[in-house]
Amino acid sequence: MALLRVRLKVLVTVTMVNVFLFLLIARHSGRDKGYLDKVRIPSKPFWNKITPSSGYWNRQQQVLDFQNNPFFANHTVGDLPDWLNVTHVSFNACRIDTRVTAQVKDYSSLPLRFKDFLLYMHCRYYPILVDQPDICRDPPFLLLAVKSVASHFDRRQAIRQTWGQAGLVANRTVVTIFLLGKTSTSDHHPDLSAMLSYESERHRDIIQWDYRDSFFNLTVKEVLFLDWIQTRCPGASFIFKGDDDVFVNTFAILKFLAGLSPTKADELFVGDVITNAGPHRDKKVKYFIPESVFIGSYPPYAGGGGYLFSASVAARLHVASRRVVLYPIDDVYTGMCLLKAGLGPEMHKGFKTFNIEEKYRSNPCVYKGLILVHPRTPQEMIQIWSWLNQPDLNCQ
Ligand SMILES: *[C@@H]1O[C@H](CO)[C@@H](O)[C@H](O)[C@H]1NC(C)=O
Ligand SMILES: *[C@@H]1O[C@H](CO)[C@@H](O)[C@H](O)[C@H]1NC(C)=O
Ligand SMILES: *[C@@H]1O[C@H](CO)[C@@H](O)[C@H](O)[C@H]1NC(C)=O
Ligand SMILES: *[C@@H]1O[C@H](CO)[C@@H](O)[C@H](O)[C@H]1NC(C)=O
Repeated sequence: MALLRVRLKVLVTVTMVNVFLFLLIARHSGRDKGYLDKVRIPSKPFWNKITPSSGYWNRQQQVLDFQNNPFFANHTVGDLPDWLNVTHVSFNACRIDTRVTAQVKDYSSLPLRFKDFLLYMHCRYYPILVDQPDICRDPPFLLLAVKSVASHFDRRQAIRQTWGQAGLVANRTVVTIFLLGKTSTSDHHPDLSAMLSYESERHRDIIQWDYRDSFFNLTVKEVLFLDWIQTRCPGASFIFKGDDDVFVNTFAILKFLAGLSPTKADELFVGDVITNAGPHRDKKVKYFIPESVFIGSYPPYAGGGGYLFSASVAARLHVASRRVVLYPIDDVYTGMCLLKAGLGPEMHKGFKTFNIEEKYRSNPCVYKGLILVHPRTPQEMIQIWSWLNQPDLNCQ
């Protein structure tokens, strides 16, 4: 009798547990069913075959993206189409790439500067000729890097005497350097090498690389400078990079930087930002780019007259730049690298790369509130700087 009662008890317990489990599973599968209804299963393969773009730059970028894709790096994907199976970026010594003559459809009718650019587009490394290895031994708060060319002696001198004064400015350390390529006599330039050596000896602020200084090679200057920061000046807190025909209010930069929160300062990239732009298709424009070279629109970018960024952004741009194919317009290229790094430029109204209204140009007080004005001659730089340093300058 006692045994029967025990068996009955076990039976009832097991049944109850079963019913409980059943209810639990039923509830869950009911929920799963509802959930499954919402899942969309693709009817076609969800990947795309990479089809080559008709723009040469775009195609090179597809190759670079493919090579940098960590998935493909570890998986064989069968035979690659020829256009994708190339190593085209050389971080080392560099040779002319004559294949482009056949790969850009209207190559022979392009302006010479495009031919020059395309033949060396894969080259990013050029030896340094003049360096200042110890210039950042004491890491400066602000590094001012000015794009210049050999013949602009007067612009560099005006900058040294004014907004590019190295040393202590408003109790902050500032280092100024000038970034140069080579202007060679084979391009019918006068031989200025002796004067340049003298200048470099005297001021020790010239950085020069062994490549041809030209408008389309400003991007080379950009990538070489990004390398240079990492090797020679990684400790600079902020970097300003700009042209040698701009006036910069260094005091205004330092004041602006002093007001930033630490997070903001870390991710800083500010300038005169251009959005919704794309390549000019008019052959007569300086910025003309043919469809055979690039298709698509430009990411937001800060005008190359001058922009300001942090050490950490410099490091991230340096990494990203290795994943972006050189583009003939340097400020657009920097915008592309920012995008690759998951960053974007921020607009600052104090950067006037398209000048200010004529009626304000000789008003000293206007310059107090600005960070950058383009363009200004050496003489104008000296005039504006003296205005800013007038102790009795009374601006309301
Ligand atoms: C690819 O392989 C390398 C070395 O074997 C490994 O370190 C890396 O994590 C792999 N990447 C992926 C995405 O599997
Ligand atoms: C890439 O091309 C080379 C010959 O240039 C060939 O040996 C190699 O197998 C190709 N790789 C793939 C993945 O197709
Ligand atoms: C100057 O800067 C240093 C450190 O950068 C700081 O310790 C000092 O207080 C500053 N002096 C003035 C007068 O602001
Ligand atoms: C850029 O510099 C390289 C190396 O000096 C030169 O061969 C090439 O023609 C230059 N490109 C342009 C567009 O000037």
